[in-house]
Amino acid sequence: MSWRQLVFALALASSFCSTSAGLAQDQDEAELDLALRLAVLLQSARAVIGAEQVLINDPAVGDKGLSGAAVLARATEAYVTKTGGPPVAEGMDPREAQLVTAMMESITEVMDANAGSINREGVAFKGFVPAVFGRLVTEAFSEKVGDLAQIKVTAPENLVRNRKARPDPWETMVITESLLSPDWKKGEVYSALSDSAGREAFRVMVPEYYTEGCLACHGAPAGEIDVTGYPKEGGALGDLGGVISITLFR
Ligand code: HEC
Repeated sequence: MSWRQLVFALALASSFCSTSAGLAQDQDEAELDLALRLAVLLQSARAVIGAEQVLINDPAVGDKGLSGAAVLARATEAYVTKTGGPPVAEGMDPREAQLVTAMMESITEVMDANAGSINREGVAFKGFVPAVFGRLVTEAFSEKVGDLAQIKVTAPENLVRNRKARPDPWETMVITESLLSPDWKKGEVYSALSDSAGREAFRVMVPEYYTEGCLACHGAPAGEIDVTGYPKEGGALGDLGGVISITLFR
């Protein structure tokens, strides 16, 4: 079984079923693989922030040991565990290496840029939660390689907190018609050839569901203000809470 089948319950988009061009199919396979690698790297880094949230929020501790290098090292370790190999390796396709490297650099830069706030003594909640970290990383990634690829963490429209995370029409269609459909197998990834910003693109949507830890902010009662100052969404355990949307331009 491939690492992808282990990490994601994979559904191959209908485009893969076309019998016409084996070559195109191989390209789609390779792009799906790349997109999922980028998603796993982002998830791995975000999980480090989640695991250290109590430390980050501790007003009594100054230096938290969460430098860019330290967070990247831990994220890389988790990535290797999940995928069975390092993020970048010799002989790798140059575009893949460029994109994965850009993601790694983005993780490092966001941590280092926020070190002053994270390490500030006397302040408990600093607003540095996994979602904010993730958004900053995807923004940094787009600045570096936005002409080649884009990553965004979005959500069903009614759940979106930050306007920047709003789904575009294609993402909304995939969310409402597929990911939220009662027939959709939980965890299945959606992928298809489509377009984005007028360019042909291979697009991948990785669903993410609320776990217990999410509900302190996104759970019930709807409307109650959470620790970050946003009204809670009234979400329930297992609801589709978000989607990592990866666009690889062709
Ligand atoms: C401490 C409160 C808190 C917790 C816990 C939390 N979130 Fe969030 N979440 C936020 C905030 C604040 C934002 C807005 C971030 C920003 O400014 O971009 C957000 C944004 C998001 C987004 C991006 C779309 C949007 O609404 O802007 C997704 C998806 C998301 N959260 C899912 C989750 C999931 C899944 C979990 C559990 C694994 C989780 N969140 C746990 C506070 C939280």
